[in-house]
Amino acid sequence: MTDIFQSSGAPLESPSIPPKTGTANPGMFFRRWLANPLQMGSIVPSSPALCRRIVQQVRPAPDEAVLELGAGTGVISQALLAGGVPADRLILVEIVPDMAAHLRRVLPGVRVIEGDARRLPDLLPPAWIGRIGAVVCGIPLVLLPVAEQRRFIDAIEAVAPGRGFLHYSYCATSPLPAGRLGLAARREAWTPLNFPPASVWRYTPRPH
Ligand SMILES: C[S@@+](CC[C@H](N)C(=O)[O-])C[C@H]1O[C@@H](n2cnc3c(N)ncnc32)[C@H](O)[C@@H]1O
Repeated sequence: MTDIFQSSGAPLESPSIPPKTGTANPGMFFRRWLANPLQMGSIVPSSPALCRRIVQQVRPAPDEAVLELGAGTGVISQALLAGGVPADRLILVEIVPDMAAHLRRVLPGVRVIEGDARRLPDLLPPAWIGRIGAVVCGIPLVLLPVAEQRRFIDAIEAVAPGRGFLHYSYCATSPLPAGRLGLAARREAWTPLNFPPASVWRYTPRPH
């Protein structure tokens, strides 16, 4: 039987390099949280411990790209680079213009797309559609109605068919109603070393 959680490539290295100075920018993060708490979902960037756990779950094949949705100030992006994802194979999507500008400044060589991840099929360069090996979603989906969650999931499926996505969350249980969304869910990791403590979930489309 095929493992629906199977990944395509070898595990990335566990990044030992600390995030580059200036990537985290907690001041910018907190100001954005004050401006739009539901869109940010957290008052501080993900911790190095959470970034490490996410990176350990990302396994693209050598010719595939990694797509990060809701990159914020870029701490996970930086950890993905430190874990071995080449800059030209990392694609970031961020809806807040100031944050997208910050990402371009601190992560040269990485493709930063400013826009709404629900519009992924229009935003992503056509050459990369179907060549995404892993998707990391940091957008706070738990706070949305199911119909809205489905829009994000459909957008991911349109650009990375069958791949599913990793999603980190501060909930004790699955942040998404996986069955209703046609997904299989698996908690891959948990860390108390984040504010708040966080889990890394893998969601994969259920075979029809
Ligand atoms: C919890 S923060 C995660 C930031 C960063 N990845 C981290 O771990 O520190 C959520 C991010 O998702 C972005 N975001 C929210 N809705 C979005 C959307 N529809 N499209 C793209 N980005 C979005 C927010 O602006 C914010 O930067």
